[in-house]
Amino acid sequence: RRTFRWARRFTYLSILGLIGAVAYDGYKDRYPDEQYTPDSQKKTLVVLGTGWGSVAFLKKLDTANYNVVVISPRNYFLFTPLLPSCTTGQIEHRSIMEPVRQILRHKKAAAKFYEAEATKIDHERKVIKIIDNSDIRGAVHETEVPYDMLVIGVGAENATFGIPGVREHSCFLKEIRDAQAIRTKIMDCVETAAFKDQTQEEVDRLLHMVVVGGGPTGVEFAGELRDFFDDDIKKLIPEIAPRFKVTLIEALPNVLPMFSKQLIDYTESTFKEEHIEIKAKTMVKKVTDKTVEAEVTGPDGKKSLVTIPYGLLVWATGNALRPIVKDLMTQIPAQKDSRRGLAVNEYLVVQGTRDIWAVGDCAVAGYAPTAQVASQEGAFLARLFNNMAKTEALEDKIRDLSSSLNLKPGNAAEATKEIEETEKQLRRIKDIKPFHYSHQGSLAYIGSEKAVADVAWLNGNVASGGKLTYFFWRSAYLSMCFSTRNRVLVALDWVKAKIYGRDVSRE
Ligand code: FAD
Ligand code: NAI
Repeated sequence: RRTFRWARRFTYLSILGLIGAVAYDGYKDRYPDEQYTPDSQKKTLVVLGTGWGSVAFLKKLDTANYNVVVISPRNYFLFTPLLPSCTTGQIEHRSIMEPVRQILRHKKAAAKFYEAEATKIDHERKVIKIIDNSDIRGAVHETEVPYDMLVIGVGAENATFGIPGVREHSCFLKEIRDAQAIRTKIMDCVETAAFKDQTQEEVDRLLHMVVVGGGPTGVEFAGELRDFFDDDIKKLIPEIAPRFKVTLIEALPNVLPMFSKQLIDYTESTFKEEHIEIKAKTMVKKVTDKTVEAEVTGPDGKKSLVTIPYGLLVWATGNALRPIVKDLMTQIPAQKDSRRGLAVNEYLVVQGTRDIWAVGDCAVAGYAPTAQVASQEGAFLARLFNNMAKTEALEDKIRDLSSSLNLKPGNAAEATKEIEETEKQLRRIKDIKPFHYSHQGSLAYIGSEKAVADVAWLNGNVASGGKLTYFFWRSAYLSMCFSTRNRVLVALDWVKAKIYGRDVSRE
């Protein structure tokens, strides 16, 4: 009984502690310390983008050393790993967004933010052209921003490979508005299929949800979609249940090529149980408003064409270059052989330029285009910039001390000693190692409360899949959320969806 009493006390104290920590964090969030404006003589550092790379950079950057200007058409950071969950209402979209002004307000020294799209980088004049693309436009909606140093973290856009009809008829899954559009369209298809006297052929088409691309985006979305249907839609509209179908189309022989063979097999068998059909070795060639036309390679290697009717089409075939990146690459001869983005050196300097660095999906540093890589690059670059500022300050100090040696010869011994100390410090700071990516592993949700994980462990790799991995997936992503506010909101969304189900009202 005594042990029980102690356990109870411990639980109460832990809960109180947790509430206290969340409340304190909320208070700090709302009432941050006073901020000061950096010296206007400092260099102007422009940061493009508010995604994984740029925000990791801003988080670690000492903004007192530069005049920081952040430019992005999105005034928030988006936690992309949980974006597939927003397509079904498992998570509400605002739970995975963090306003960039909130992030910048917590820096010691103020930084400027402009909600705008950078449309051109003139690296010779060192200016960036920016456009306010929002619905509400002021008298000025186009201008130029000069920079001394530039960090590009504009990410990538959706690859369509120029396949006809893709842009016009399919939904992508990269931004919040994409997830909202998918959520609306799922319910639109369902309600239209349930319309009185709907033809059977049309019901089958409307309830056929097709996903193109068997990478992690396509797989996670297919899993979330099936969950939504099984947990909620089926219960509310049982008459359409037998007709609902999810198909995942992949050009390669398998889905999730970056995972180990064992996890690919596990995912494929789980999809079979979940009635998600995988059409492998199937390359989509054309999309119309109601059908997908694809080339299938049979077991004998023969190719044939198939036409697949669909109600909802989600296109998830990876990344392509953003126009601003393409344009900069054409200006720089050293970039002419680069295809996937801005080629950077081991310090993330854009090859063939001065004072321009790139991070994340728009940079080619030899790693996969993932959030993990982007955030490690951003953090590395911030350390580099903090060091550069320190280096400059120490070099100035050495210069001052050296000139004081001539002016006040009486203090020579003291000044020489200080110069030696400062030079030692300078050497230590200058000795920054090149960027090295440390892979922590890959995780993906595959539906039915199952996930797959290839995780780095003691110089090796651990591959696991199933329910337990799902809890690991949840706790890993919860801990990786940007702020405590995001963590609380995501956890509450999960609880809310478990108790009340997902909201099926169509916005
Ligand atoms: P982004 O995060 O895309 O940010 C780019 C920023 O640049 C945005 O703020 C954008 O608005 C801004 N921008 C765009 N154009 C301009 C312009 N012209 N001027 C100024 N700013 C501009 N990776 C993982 O490691 N794990 C995961 O679980 C995972 N899940 C994912 C799930 C989904 C659905 C998706 C789509 C991706 C996922 N990724 C995941 C990949 C990961 O999101 C990307 O690799 C990561 O976002 C890249 O970071 P970034 O900073 O380069 O670009
Ligand atoms: P991807 O590039 O990983 O996969 C796209 C898939 O589409 C490829 O397998 C390709 O063969 C297929 N494809 C291309 N054209 C096709 C066509 N015409 N017809 C049929 N199939 C076609 O793209 P994805 O999933 O969008 O991921 C982008 C990046 O983001 C990757 O680096 C990925 O690792 C990362 N990511 C990571 C996640 C995670 O770790 N859980 C989740 C989502 C994305």
